[in-house]
Amino acid sequence: MKKCAVLGSINMDMVISVDRFPVAGESRIGTGFVQTPGGKGGNQAVALARLGADVVMAGCVGNDAFGDAYIETFKKNGVDTGLIARVDGVSTGLAFIEVEESGENRIIAVNGANALFKGDKVCAAVEAMKDRDIFLFQLETDHESAFEAIKAFHDEGKTVILDPAPAAAIPDWVFQYVDIITPNETELIAVTPDIEGGKDERMRALYSKGVRTVINKCGKDGAYVFSGGEIEHVPGFEVKAVDTTAAGDTFNAGLARALSEDMDMLSAVRYANAAAALSVTALGAQGGMPTDSETRDLMKGR
Ligand code: RIB
Repeated sequence: MKKCAVLGSINMDMVISVDRFPVAGESRIGTGFVQTPGGKGGNQAVALARLGADVVMAGCVGNDAFGDAYIETFKKNGVDTGLIARVDGVSTGLAFIEVEESGENRIIAVNGANALFKGDKVCAAVEAMKDRDIFLFQLETDHESAFEAIKAFHDEGKTVILDPAPAAAIPDWVFQYVDIITPNETELIAVTPDIEGGKDERMRALYSKGVRTVINKCGKDGAYVFSGGEIEHVPGFEVKAVDTTAAGDTFNAGLARALSEDMDMLSAVRYANAAAALSVTALGAQGGMPTDSETRDLMKGR
């Protein structure tokens, strides 16, 4: 099985449950609170480990109780923490999340130590990861450093998956070094600001700029996949959503896990859809992240 690596953000999530989101200026009483590990990078690493992948995480946490707790979480789940730096004088990344009864969420993240995962720290991680095959990136750490690392891995013939979240514009030169990009609907618009038109035009534009496979994640509707030729729809799985936080992160992890055993792209996207569907069935970013056998059972309809 190919080895995976995640470079990116590590947050402690503060999750408030509420019957419905307050409107601007309104106060509401929440129905619950949990502090739970999150961050797009950390979520991808934990999801990969639960799915049975060999995974190392590179990123930064503060020298604080949140950092201690998160490193324990990684270890418990079997994520290699050897490339996580502890940094002084700054908090571990934090995210403040509201989850309403429909399972929808709203997130504000504060970067903290994630902002220091750049420059020499990223270069050192790249050097230390030469034995890895599949690399996952998101956009919650320094963009320029992430883009340089993407180029370096591409030049070594590795597979690079970029989850362009949170939504942001990406310089055109980066796309030629990305094997797979996985925007949701909002992110697809953000990464194609120069394109007028709908999903199809935007997906084709990213392909023309050099991305080998464009995957538009669409939540319970599944995903659309374009690697040249026709855009293919891979349907999602019906589940009862409790909390959709980290469904996208679990999708990326599922995709990497499936590709690590050389599944073809459409089967890998189906696996990713199943893993993402299961991830929304419990509270907290990592609460519902499934194992490999749970994911395969859902795919078989069990
Ligand atoms: O993708 C979900 C994650 O985004 C949350 O866990 C939160 O930490 C934010 O980074």
